[in-house]
Amino acid sequence: LNLILLGPPGAGKGTQAERLTEDFNLPYFATGNILRAAVEEGTELGRKAKEYMDKGELVPDDVIIGVILERVQGDDARDGFLLDGFPRTIPQAEALDQALSDLDRALTAVLLVDVPDEEVIRRLSGRRVSVKTGRVYHVEFDPPKHEDRCDVDGSRLIQRDDDKPETIKNRLEVYHSTTEPLVGYYDERDLLRRFDGTRNPTEVHDHIRATVATLR
Ligand code: AP5
Ligand code: ZN
Repeated sequence: LNLILLGPPGAGKGTQAERLTEDFNLPYFATGNILRAAVEEGTELGRKAKEYMDKGELVPDDVIIGVILERVQGDDARDGFLLDGFPRTIPQAEALDQALSDLDRALTAVLLVDVPDEEVIRRLSGRRVSVKTGRVYHVEFDPPKHEDRCDVDGSRLIQRDDDKPETIKNRLEVYHSTTEPLVGYYDERDLLRRFDGTRNPTEVHDHIRATVATLR
């Protein structure tokens, strides 16, 4: 199973990925998480990415493509993968197609989780994350058992730097102008599966899992 999760910021890609990787035992590569970890560690990648991320802009293609292809081509991903946050531009999608065809492989499906802009704003404004475990919460829709602490290990929950109102607005604009064209790109190739992301996380998960189960 070579799968992509596509959708606007705050659609619930990370939330669903956490469940799907368990269902199907897939290695999970999320470019946002990889970049945030690089920023945290102060690596060269992190230094290059930070200014773009803070503004809600995309990191340049030549910075991100190598990072993700290396993982897709790695041993861990030999039997499949789940990508979240990549590709986000047509050139990224083309680079991924080329890399997979070099390996004699192809995408299985692109899972589009769609939600309207107003819902994105509600979700991102209330999101809290544990930097340690990566677990994602929402103050209203998916609250932790103890305020500001992760259920898994009690680590502190924070608000992401790019979840400020102006940055959310810009991320939505970038999604519509630059990433949404991928919907057509994959639909033309008969790879696109659409899911209504406005339902609760368990319902969304049930729908996606049922569809992916038919693809094996
Ligand atoms: P990235 O981390 O990928 O951010 P994103 O795409 O904006 O998506 P999010 O992580 O914000 O949302 P999500 O869909 O994962 O939703 P979540 O499950 O958390 O990228 C960050 C930045 O990195 C980019 O802006 C860019 O700068 C850079 N970058 C990354 N990849 C790149 C690339 N390929 N090229 C260039 N630059 C790149 O859920 C959101 C909230 O909603 C949570 O609080 C959650 O609890 C809640 N929620 C989830 N599902 C539901 C539901 N069904 N009902 C109610 N609430 C829900
Ligand atoms: Zn995410």
